[in-house]
Amino acid sequence: MQDILNELEERRAEARLGGGERRIEAQHKRGKLTARERIDLLLDENSFEEFDMFVEHRCTDFGMADNKVPGDGVVTGWGTVNGRTVYVFAKDFTVFGGSLSETHAKKITKIQDMALRNRAPCIGLFDAGGARIQEGVAALGGYGEVFLRNVLASGVIPQISVIMGPCAGGDVYSPAMTDFIFMVKDTSYMFVTGPDVVKTVTNETVTAEDLGGASVHTTKSSIADKAYENDVEALLQMRRLIDFLPSSNLADVPELPSYDDGERTEISLDTIIPDNPNQPYNMKELITKVVDEGDFFEIQEAFAKNIVIGFGRIEGRTVGVVANQPMVLAGVLDADASRKAARFVRFCDCFNIALVTFVDVPGFLPGTAQEYGGLIKHGAKLLFAFAEATVPKVTVITRKAYGGAYDVMSSKHIRGDVNYAWPSAEIAVMGPKGAAEILYRSELEDKDKIGQRIKDYEDRFANPFVAAERGYIDEVILPRNTRRRVSRTLNMLRNKQTENPWKKHDNIPL
Ligand code: HXC
Repeated sequence: MQDILNELEERRAEARLGGGERRIEAQHKRGKLTARERIDLLLDENSFEEFDMFVEHRCTDFGMADNKVPGDGVVTGWGTVNGRTVYVFAKDFTVFGGSLSETHAKKITKIQDMALRNRAPCIGLFDAGGARIQEGVAALGGYGEVFLRNVLASGVIPQISVIMGPCAGGDVYSPAMTDFIFMVKDTSYMFVTGPDVVKTVTNETVTAEDLGGASVHTTKSSIADKAYENDVEALLQMRRLIDFLPSSNLADVPELPSYDDGERTEISLDTIIPDNPNQPYNMKELITKVVDEGDFFEIQEAFAKNIVIGFGRIEGRTVGVVANQPMVLAGVLDADASRKAARFVRFCDCFNIALVTFVDVPGFLPGTAQEYGGLIKHGAKLLFAFAEATVPKVTVITRKAYGGAYDVMSSKHIRGDVNYAWPSAEIAVMGPKGAAEILYRSELEDKDKIGQRIKDYEDRFANPFVAAERGYIDEVILPRNTRRRVSRTLNMLRNKQTENPWKKHDNIPL
């Protein structure tokens, strides 16, 4: 018996070595951890239960019959993050460059199926060279099976992808269909076709970093939600993110012990709005003063900075925060900001995460660049997302809420549950100057007259009371009481029940 036990240990040890010491060393030299080291950091200590450690590929072409490595380039299994179950697969770059074979794909789909059946998040750690070149269509079929499961699980369980090395060809589309993509700076890149193919097809010369590095995808393409300095930081931040997320669309949000009183007042908010309406203030300061212990997990921080999105907690329960950022483009809504926030709102709505929206928006960004870029449809995405969302929705207008953007930003008219305004709110069709100049075009030459018109418009509309008189604003509140109001409201809305009419699915303007 002892011999059999020893043999098992030997076989396990061999599998754990993946592509061997030399390749592990090369991995470390590049500043990357191995698949197993990554899983150890992501999960609670000793919680990882590995599956399919001895699976091998079945390819016989190109000398592959004699070239087999147990595990076949991906480490799969489940474990816990702060006690909560998650499923994980991590590509092992030391084995055939982490490339995907038929059996490699089967290991991943087994994990995806289990995650979906057992309603727990599925996390993929990517570091791979795409389809196993020696396998051909068997590998392509494998990708298709993975993609299908990504789609079926979408909106049912959270799916997270972390790119920690190359991610090219077939490997990019699975992450693209998950809820979040994170990258590691300098060591990871993502593209459909690499620099060599780009050169052949378009004659463009570009490096892997410039084509699909972390900075490209966090600032330009918006494919990635955030980039981290190294593997360790990325994995520790994933643990932090998972703490915010419910396990599935049927589960409630996690409720963590909070030492921050829901009734806390924040006097400094009374003076956060500058006297000059054209002067910005930092919306992130407001957010961190309202959420529990100032803990805010921002998503897409480096893209479309005119809108801020991310997770926080109020009295220990996760909320999704959407807020215009007056520091960037005066907080205007443009195509990028609308798309960014719309996807986040839909994620929150899928997973029962209440939405807290802070509004300071001068409208939609005018101009040919925006109109040619499809602002109408992109803006409609955010409008659609807020309108269809059935989770509790609390809105606070801090200053400007002009034009269509007033409607879009979780207004009462699209089922905001409770809509507050600070006394500094200005709710109107447009800013006083623009309004007066259109209404009194003939008086434009007369500075005094037009000045008076602007003032009249300001006096009438640059306040929250016209909207409050109509019940579009439920209450005008003191800024200092924002956390208290939001927190009490979310408690009141805990058992909210609303359903949209039955449909196969909606047809959001994509
Ligand atoms: C089999 C692969 C491989 C692959 C890498 N390897 N990619 N084996 N299939 N796709 C192996 C290498 O042979 C090598 O084996 C080891 O992994 C490490 O690769 P290196 O090239 O030495 O590493 P590096 O210099 O870091 O370059 C990494 C890389 C490069 C950029 C990923 O390997 C590369 O360009 N690979 C091919 C990428 C690609 O074109 N894939 C197919 C995409 S098409 P040894 O034994 O030497 O360690 C695709 C279509 C699917 O995916 C579409 C589905 C919808």
